[in-house]
Amino acid sequence: MKGVILAGGSGTRLRPMTKIINKHLLPVGPFPMIHYAVSKMAAAGIKDIMLVTGKQSAGLFMEYIGSGSGWGVRLTYKIQEEAGGIAQALELADGFIQPQDKFVVLLGDNLFEDGLESAVRMFAEAEQGNAMVFLKKVADPRRYGVPEMRGDRIAAIEEKPAYPKSDYCVTGIYMYDSNVFDKIQEIQASERGELEITDVNNRYAAQGMLTYRLLEGWWTDAGTHRSLLEASIRLSASDVL
Ligand code: DAU
Repeated sequence: MKGVILAGGSGTRLRPMTKIINKHLLPVGPFPMIHYAVSKMAAAGIKDIMLVTGKQSAGLFMEYIGSGSGWGVRLTYKIQEEAGGIAQALELADGFIQPQDKFVVLLGDNLFEDGLESAVRMFAEAEQGNAMVFLKKVADPRRYGVPEMRGDRIAAIEEKPAYPKSDYCVTGIYMYDSNVFDKIQEIQASERGELEITDVNNRYAAQGMLTYRLLEGWWTDAGTHRSLLEASIRLSASDVL
């Protein structure tokens, strides 16, 4: 399997620091945030990784990660010109992902404890055409994409709903095959002007092809000052880096 790390966006909720530096280069424990996504992929045996980021700080990512040899992986970089949404950033991996490939997508601001090895193995053997997302029970589902589960499938996801249909959030850990690029072509920009990953996942859900797994350990989306601090505390205390 291949990997795609999405590390663009405008980091609005982490201003003013993100006026001068990309969110994924901010320190979390002893490392810049981006370190953890690369480490998670490497630990899961993923060797070919594409990092998508914006123009801001692009050189710093290369300075820190380089070719990926420090992790035993191969890095390819791609620039997203404007923060047009997660699905728009993902679309840039078309071509790097070949028709027969399956791959893992990580949102670079998602920090978590679980390893991805067994899920990667399982998804590699799963039927072509399905997608899988990781869910986590959270106290404040309104901040996230919220799934409505039906058996072992997701029936639908609502993005930041006022009245969440479950206590779970769809985390930024996704598994796809190259069919995802056709689905991205089918969606339109949302009201906030972005191509939403939730709209892509809902295409799978509508066809009964969106499966899920629950994360067992801690998980945080380090996109706000408070959650960044929380992630820093966890990862400073952790020796599983
Ligand atoms: O963290 C999980 C949540 O991530 C999900 O529950 C939501 O369904 C999903 O939409 C997303 O919500 P956020 O509001 O947290 O997304 P945010 O705009 O903060 O972007 C998350 C990551 O995606 C971030 O690490 C950077 C990357 N990104 C984002 C945008 C908008 C890009 O690479 N390019 C972009 O244009």
